[in-house]
Amino acid sequence: MEVIDQFREDHRIVRDGLIELASALESRDLEKAGKVLGDLNKLLGPHFRFEEEALYPTLRKFLGEYVDQLLSEHDVAIRSAREVAELISKGDVSEDEAKVAANKTRSLLVHVSNCDGLAILAERLDEEEINSLWKKLTDLREEGVPLLEWAEKIKARV
Ligand SMILES: [Fe+2]
Repeated sequence: MEVIDQFREDHRIVRDGLIELASALESRDLEKAGKVLGDLNKLLGPHFRFEEEALYPTLRKFLGEYVDQLLSEHDVAIRSAREVAELISKGDVSEDEAKVAANKTRSLLVHVSNCDGLAILAERLDEEEINSLWKKLTDLREEGVPLLEWAEKIKARV
């Protein structure tokens, strides 16, 4: 199932990006942190959107209210991304600010792991559902709205 493979591949990139971002923040390398955050912002726009508009609603039949927890984990991630972007744009950070931002970044890894676990449930979806997920992922990637822009202009809930 290509859609699941790509979905999981995104998680690997995000996992590595978050680890890299946290250590760049910790060493107060803002140039590197800004670059990694920029890449994550691009990748995560279509990814979060795919999950919120297509995957999570489809999986609600297996997961019920747990989907709401995943959605609120997304909200936390978006807020953290916004805060880290603001911090980076200041151009200079204190050791304490850097440490707090690095910890916040690392704490997002739990969601990556929770979200990747959904792949085992997605394997139980039928062909029609899988096809429509695939189409949605492809369309959203083509549209390519970055995470923070999507959160601000389209998602509107955060
Ligand atoms: Fe995800």
